[in-house]
Amino acid sequence: MLGIRGLAGLVGLVILITACAGRPLPVPTAAQAAAVGSDLATVTAARSTYARSCSGCHALDHPADHDEKTWRDVMPDMAKKAKLTAQEAQDVLAYVLATRR
Ligand code: HEC
Repeated sequence: MLGIRGLAGLVGLVILITACAGRPLPVPTAAQAAAVGSDLATVTAARSTYARSCSGCHALDHPADHDEKTWRDVMPDMAKKAKLTAQEAQDVLAYVLATRR
Protein backbone atom coordinates (compact mmCIF):
# COMPACT_ATOMS: atom_id res chain seq x y z
CA MET A 1 0.00 0.00 0.00
CA LEU A 2 0.94 3.61 -0.29
CA GLY A 3 2.47 4.62 3.06
CA ILE A 4 2.88 8.21 4.23
CA ARG A 5 6.26 8.34 2.47
CA GLY A 6 4.72 7.15 -0.76
CA LEU A 7 2.00 9.73 -0.39
CA ALA A 8 4.56 12.50 0.21
CA GLY A 9 6.45 11.34 -2.86
CA LEU A 10 3.29 11.45 -4.91
CA VAL A 11 2.49 14.99 -3.75
CA GLY A 12 6.06 16.02 -4.60
CA LEU A 13 5.73 14.51 -8.05
CA VAL A 14 2.47 16.36 -8.71
CA ILE A 15 4.09 19.64 -7.63
CA LEU A 16 7.06 18.93 -9.90
CA ILE A 17 4.83 18.21 -12.90
CA THR A 18 2.76 21.33 -12.22
CA ALA A 19 5.93 23.43 -11.99
CA CYS A 20 7.16 22.14 -15.35
CA ALA A 21 3.76 22.76 -16.92
CA GLY A 22 4.21 26.42 -15.95
CA ARG A 23 6.38 26.95 -19.01
CA PRO A 24 4.76 24.97 -21.79
CA LEU A 25 6.22 24.73 -25.25
CA PRO A 26 4.78 27.53 -27.34
CA VAL A 27 2.15 26.63 -29.92
CA PRO A 28 3.22 28.03 -33.28
CA THR A 29 1.08 30.36 -35.38
CA ALA A 30 0.85 30.31 -39.17
CA ALA A 31 2.64 33.69 -39.32
CA GLN A 32 5.54 32.39 -37.21
CA ALA A 33 5.82 29.31 -39.43
CA ALA A 34 5.80 31.41 -42.59
CA ALA A 35 8.47 33.72 -41.13
CA VAL A 36 10.94 30.81 -41.09
CA GLY A 37 9.90 29.53 -44.51
CA SER A 38 7.80 26.65 -43.17
CA ASP A 39 4.09 26.08 -42.68
CA LEU A 40 1.80 25.60 -39.71
CA ALA A 41 1.21 21.85 -40.14
CA THR A 42 4.94 21.18 -40.36
CA VAL A 43 6.01 23.18 -37.32
CA THR A 44 3.03 21.92 -35.30
CA ALA A 45 4.11 18.33 -36.01
CA ALA A 46 7.72 19.30 -35.24
CA ARG A 47 6.61 20.60 -31.82
CA SER A 48 5.47 17.03 -31.02
CA THR A 49 8.69 15.57 -32.42
CA TYR A 50 10.69 17.95 -30.23
CA ALA A 51 8.67 17.07 -27.11
CA ARG A 52 8.85 13.34 -27.80
CA SER A 53 12.39 12.91 -29.14
CA CYS A 54 14.38 15.52 -27.24
CA SER A 55 13.22 14.93 -23.67
CA GLY A 56 14.96 11.62 -23.04
CA CYS A 57 18.30 12.97 -21.78
CA HIS A 58 17.53 16.45 -20.44
CA ALA A 59 14.66 18.83 -19.83
CA LEU A 60 13.28 20.48 -22.94
CA ASP A 61 14.68 23.95 -23.40
CA HIS A 62 12.15 26.61 -24.22
CA PRO A 63 12.72 27.94 -27.76
CA ALA A 64 13.41 31.39 -26.28
CA ASP A 65 16.21 29.96 -24.10
CA HIS A 66 18.70 30.16 -26.96
CA ASP A 67 19.47 32.56 -29.76
CA GLU A 68 19.22 31.51 -33.37
CA LYS A 69 22.93 30.79 -33.70
CA THR A 70 22.95 28.44 -30.71
CA TRP A 71 19.95 26.46 -32.00
CA ARG A 72 21.58 26.15 -35.43
CA ASP A 73 24.88 25.05 -33.90
CA VAL A 74 23.33 22.57 -31.47
CA MET A 75 20.72 20.93 -33.69
CA PRO A 76 22.92 18.68 -35.89
CA ASP A 77 24.54 17.09 -32.85
CA MET A 78 21.26 16.74 -30.94
CA ALA A 79 19.38 15.43 -33.97
CA LYS A 80 21.99 12.69 -34.20
CA LYS A 81 21.59 11.92 -30.49
CA ALA A 82 17.80 11.79 -30.89
CA LYS A 83 18.10 9.74 -34.10
CA LEU A 84 16.01 12.18 -36.10
CA THR A 85 15.87 12.03 -39.86
CA ALA A 86 17.36 15.00 -41.72
CA GLN A 87 13.83 16.21 -42.45
CA GLU A 88 12.76 15.94 -38.79
CA ALA A 89 15.89 17.82 -37.70
CA GLN A 90 15.15 20.59 -40.18
CA ASP A 91 11.52 20.81 -39.01
CA VAL A 92 12.39 20.84 -35.29
CA LEU A 93 14.87 23.64 -36.00
CA ALA A 94 12.13 25.51 -37.87
CA TYR A 95 9.79 25.02 -34.90
CA VAL A 96 12.19 26.46 -32.30
CA LEU A 97 13.26 29.33 -34.55
CA ALA A 98 9.63 30.12 -35.39
CA THR A 99 8.50 30.27 -31.77
CA ARG A 100 11.54 31.74 -30.03
CA ARG A 101 10.68 35.36 -30.86
C1 HEC B 1 21.16 10.99 -26.08
C2 HEC B 1 20.88 12.11 -25.19
C3 HEC B 1 20.33 13.41 -25.80
C4 HEC B 1 19.25 13.56 -26.63
C5 HEC B 1 18.32 12.49 -27.18
C6 HEC B 1 19.14 14.99 -26.88
N1 HEC B 1 20.11 15.67 -26.19
FE1 HEC B 1 20.35 17.71 -26.14
N2 HEC B 1 21.97 17.49 -24.91
C7 HEC B 1 22.50 16.28 -24.49
C8 HEC B 1 23.71 16.55 -23.72
C9 HEC B 1 24.60 15.48 -23.10
C10 HEC B 1 23.86 17.96 -23.68
C11 HEC B 1 24.96 18.78 -23.02
C12 HEC B 1 26.30 18.63 -23.67
C13 HEC B 1 26.31 18.96 -25.13
O1 HEC B 1 26.05 20.12 -25.51
O2 HEC B 1 26.58 18.03 -25.92
C14 HEC B 1 22.75 18.51 -24.42
C15 HEC B 1 22.51 19.86 -24.58
C16 HEC B 1 21.47 20.42 -25.31
C17 HEC B 1 21.22 21.83 -25.44
C18 HEC B 1 21.97 22.95 -24.74
C19 HEC B 1 23.05 23.52 -25.62
C20 HEC B 1 23.67 24.78 -25.02
O3 HEC B 1 24.57 25.33 -25.68
O4 HEC B 1 23.27 25.19 -23.92
C21 HEC B 1 20.15 21.97 -26.26
C22 HEC B 1 19.50 23.27 -26.71
C23 HEC B 1 19.73 20.65 -26.65
N3 HEC B 1 20.55 19.72 -26.04
C24 HEC B 1 18.70 20.38 -27.51
C25 HEC B 1 18.30 19.11 -27.87
C26 HEC B 1 17.32 18.85 -28.90
C27 HEC B 1 16.60 19.89 -29.74
C28 HEC B 1 17.18 17.48 -28.98
C29 HEC B 1 16.29 16.68 -29.93
C30 HEC B 1 16.55 16.87 -31.36
C31 HEC B 1 18.08 16.90 -27.97
N4 HEC B 1 18.75 17.92 -27.35
C32 HEC B 1 18.21 15.55 -27.73
C33 HEC B 1 21.98 15.03 -24.73
C34 HEC B 1 20.87 14.74 -25.53
